[in-house]
Amino acid sequence: MASFFSQPSSPRWLLYCLISQISLALSQSVSILFIPETNTIIGINFPPEPSKDINFYITAPDWYQYAAIGFGSTMANSLLLVMYPSADRSTVAVSPRFTTGHTEPTYISNVRITLHPSSNISDSTGTFQMTANGTCHDCQLLPSGLKTVSQPLSATQEMIFAVGPGNASPLASNDLDARIRRHVGHGHFTINAPLATGPGGVGSPGNATTNAVFVNNSMSKSSNKAATVHGILFAIVALAIAPFDTLVAAFLQKWPKLHVFTSGTYFAFVLGAMVPGILISRDHILTQKMGTPHQALGLVTIILMFSIVIYGIVLGRMKKAVAATINFGGASAAPMNKTAILGKVHAWAGRLIWVLLLVNNGLGLKLSEQTTIFVLGYSVLAGGVFVFLIPIYFCLWYCTKARKGKPLDDDHELDNMPSIYDHERYNK
Ligand code: HEM
Ligand SMILES: *[C@@H]1O[C@H](CO)[C@@H](O)[C@H](O)[C@H]1NC(C)=O
Ligand SMILES: *[C@@H]1O[C@H](CO)[C@@H](O)[C@H](O)[C@H]1NC(C)=O
Ligand SMILES: *[C@@H]1O[C@H](CO)[C@@H](O)[C@H](O)[C@H]1NC(C)=O
Ligand SMILES: *[C@@H]1O[C@H](CO)[C@@H](O)[C@H](O)[C@H]1NC(C)=O
Repeated sequence: MASFFSQPSSPRWLLYCLISQISLALSQSVSILFIPETNTIIGINFPPEPSKDINFYITAPDWYQYAAIGFGSTMANSLLLVMYPSADRSTVAVSPRFTTGHTEPTYISNVRITLHPSSNISDSTGTFQMTANGTCHDCQLLPSGLKTVSQPLSATQEMIFAVGPGNASPLASNDLDARIRRHVGHGHFTINAPLATGPGGVGSPGNATTNAVFVNNSMSKSSNKAATVHGILFAIVALAIAPFDTLVAAFLQKWPKLHVFTSGTYFAFVLGAMVPGILISRDHILTQKMGTPHQALGLVTIILMFSIVIYGIVLGRMKKAVAATINFGGASAAPMNKTAILGKVHAWAGRLIWVLLLVNNGLGLKLSEQTTIFVLGYSVLAGGVFVFLIPIYFCLWYCTKARKGKPLDDDHELDNMPSIYDHERYNK
């Protein structure tokens, strides 16, 4: 090759080069898929027998966290090639991966990939494109369990494609085992593998689909329903149900059954909101061990909440028992004070849980890499609920206090008042 390029560039030589290039381009054995929605070009070439390599070409805008192809019709058990920007963003990394389901695929180190020098990130017509031009060695025949292309090569070889989330989740790494996130879009296509078999590699794929069929002619938007349900339910819990229950617990003590009802609803919502959260935890390697701050704080909050529910039930029983002893004339100050203190602990633990839920929703938004604007919006909303509730709290507190001051009030809190009030009352 070196001597080839050191030839003097005579016009005849140039003409020869030009003609051979053109004839190569015309006879190129390659499958090319152009995806306008994501400005992506995928090229696949199979070298002639006996080689079992696969030559591949992928180009996509570098604002996607990654662009990936897979040899098969589903994510599960297909060889996936995931391309993302290198650490210095001058070139790309291509990581071979594998998964058995709809979960983050893991790096498989025994698949050998060579990237050719033209793999890079470069400014093409105003958008930065990441481009991989490489060879996956012996990839037509991989260890059992890993689907690649069917043998003999089929005219309707199934292929998949996916692009990772945009700018909010940047990734630039040389680590082939780098963490990636669930895609925002995926597609399905077939290639005519026999027509893509021949010498010369992928050549220079352009934006014309050749020897390939884009199934349904469009990308599918990847759904994120479980995550959305999880987020919305917890937002309802922290911004509406929790403050409502706190109000009921603090100011409607006359109807303790109402608090039992609202706190029951509250707890049911929390458990319901947790279910999709646990399901989506299995999607990514980072969250599979439940170790992120959002997950850890969430679990602590739920354990705390479970304890406080039990504690509340026990406390309710105790209050009833104490009330019974008073009714039977056995008034003694000690159990009264005890239930009052335990009640305070219950109330403050409840408030703490509410604050933890508010904070943890913020951590969840961070974990799901929502835009800063969105996280700020949530913070303002959470703060707004607080500010909105303070005057209500104050009013209710003031009113109940005034009511408690009135004579012959049968509020339970009065039971704790020293007998001097009774004394005054009966001396009037
Ligand atoms: C963190 C990594 C990934 C996660 C958590 C993930 C998760 C999922 C989930 C939950 C679905 C179901 C459909 C939907 O929700 O819209 C799905 C489908 C799909 N994924 Fe992924 N994925 C990941 C990476 C990849 C990669 C690297 C590819 C490479 C091509 C890919 C290609 C596809 C395709 C083509 C489908 C539709 C076909 C099917 O159901 O298998 N995914 N993925
Ligand atoms: C990147 O590769 C393309 C071919 O894929 C080439 O045209 C371009 O000059 C390269 N850019 C840089 C900066 O190397
Ligand atoms: C891809 O790499 C091969 C081998 O180095 C080269 O012949 C071909 O021109 C490259 N294609 C592109 C589009 O850069
Ligand atoms: C395809 O590429 C040609 C030049 O190679 C360009 O003129 C044309 O606009 C491109 N079409 C699309 C849809 O990008
Ligand atoms: C293509 O469209 C058909 C009908 O609209 C649908 O049943 C099928 O699931 C789609 N296939 C893919 C891969 O999106």
